[in-house]
Amino acid sequence: MAKLPGTAGVSVLGDKSMEFYRDPVSFCEQRIEKYGTRIFQSRLLNKPTTFVCSVEGMRELLCEKSSVFLKDPTDVMHNMYGDNIVTSNGEEACLLRLSLTSLFTGACLESWNDYITRVCERCLNDLSTSREPESVYPLFKRVGTELVLGLFLNVQPEEQLFQEITNLCTLHWHGLISAPVSVKVPLWSSGFCTALEARDQLLDIIRDKLHTDTQGFVGSLGSLPLPEPSCASQHLLLFISALIPKALASLLTSFTMALSGPQMEETRRRARSDPVYLHHILLEVQRLWPPFIGGRRIANQDTSLGGFLVPHGYAAMYISHAVHRDPEVFTHPHDFLPERWSGRNSGQEHLLCSLGNGPRNCIGTQLNYVFLKAACVYLLQHYEWILDPPSQDLQYKWLPVSRPSNPPTVTFTPPQDQ
Ligand code: HEM
Repeated sequence: MAKLPGTAGVSVLGDKSMEFYRDPVSFCEQRIEKYGTRIFQSRLLNKPTTFVCSVEGMRELLCEKSSVFLKDPTDVMHNMYGDNIVTSNGEEACLLRLSLTSLFTGACLESWNDYITRVCERCLNDLSTSREPESVYPLFKRVGTELVLGLFLNVQPEEQLFQEITNLCTLHWHGLISAPVSVKVPLWSSGFCTALEARDQLLDIIRDKLHTDTQGFVGSLGSLPLPEPSCASQHLLLFISALIPKALASLLTSFTMALSGPQMEETRRRARSDPVYLHHILLEVQRLWPPFIGGRRIANQDTSLGGFLVPHGYAAMYISHAVHRDPEVFTHPHDFLPERWSGRNSGQEHLLCSLGNGPRNCIGTQLNYVFLKAACVYLLQHYEWILDPPSQDLQYKWLPVSRPSNPPTVTFTPPQDQ
C-alpha cells in the first residue's frame, strides 16, 4: 500500500503544531498543493497525524471506518471536562448516545420552540434603534449564551447566577484553549489551574441545580439512568461550555456577513419568503465557514485512508474547511453559491462535516438547526443590514472557533416594505 505523502518528522523537533495553529488553512493548502493530494501526513501535538481534506476521505474516516478510528481518551477535552461522551468509545459511547439523544430530539426539541423564539425576541428586538453600529459577534455570543443557560440549566439573564456562570465558563474555556497550542501540555500553568478551579465551581452550581430542579432539561437529565452518578453533571458542564455559544455566534456572524449590503438585498428578500432557499443559504454558510476546524481520531490498528497506509497509533484529523472546499464535489469551491444545493449538490448535505459526520456526529445537530433558522428568520423579517463602515477587513481566523479576526460592525435598519 502507498505511503502517506509528507513526513511525520521526529519527535518534538519535527512537530508542526505551532505552524498549524497559527494558520490551519494555509498549512493544509500548502501541503495539498505540494503533494498533489488531499490526504497527507505531518506531526501534530507531537503525534504522526494523517490530515484528511477530501470529502471521500472524511466519509471513509468518520463513517466506513468509524470502528477503526477512535476518539482519543487522552484528548485535552478530557482534562477539562472529565469523562463524557465526546472522548468515550465503544459500548460506553453507544449507551451514552442512546440515552442523551432523547433529550435533543422529538418532544424535547419541540418543547424548546417557545423558549428559542423568546430568546431571539429578547436579544434581537431593537437592533435598528441603536445609534452605533452593532458589533455582531459579541451580540450573537450573548444570544447563544442565553439560549444555552436557559435551555440546559433553567438560568435566566436577569439572575445573578447567569453572570457568575458566564464568567466561570470563560475562565474554564481559557484553560481549554491554552492547552493545544503548546506541545508541552501546560498542566502546571496558572491559566490551567484557574481553569480547573472554575470547572470545580461550575460543577458545584450544576450539582445544586440537578438536586433542586425537576423541570426542563436539567430535570430530565437528572432522571436518566446514566452509568455513573457524576455522569449528568459532567455532561451539563460540556453542554453549557463556552464552545457552543461561540459556535452559534460564528455561524450567525458568517450568515450576517454573507448577506450584508445593498448587493445582497435580493438574496435577503428571497430568503425571507422562501424557506427552502434559506435552508440552502444556511448550508452554504456552514460549508464556507465551519465554526470548528475539524475533529481528531486515533487508528486502533494498521489501516488505510484514500488508499494510503495509516499505521496503528497514528492520529487522523479531518479538516472541515478543506473538506468543504474539495473541488471534486463542490465546483467553484470558494464562492458563496446557495443555488448549488438545488443543483449539482442537491441532497448532498451529508457530505458536510461542520457538525461532524457518521455515528459520532453532533448530538445537537437538530437543535442547532432549529435555533439558527429561528435567529436568521428573525433577522430577515425585522431588518435590512449593511457593514458600517462599508469597507472592513473580514479576514477569518479559524482557531479556536472561526470568525473574522476583527469583529465586524453592522448597521441594522427596518426592512423597506414595513
Ligand atoms: C453551532 C453549534 C455546534 C457545532 C458547530 C458543533 C459541532 C460539532 C462537531 C464538529 C462534532 C464532531 C466532533 C468530532 O468529530 O470529533 C460535534 C460533536 C458533538 N456535539 Fe456539537 N456542535 C454544536 C452544538 C452542539 C450542541 C448545542 C450540543 C449539545 C448541547 C452539542 C453536543 C455535541 C456532542 C455531545 C458531541 C459528541 C458526540 C459524540 O462524540 O458521540 N453540540 N459537534
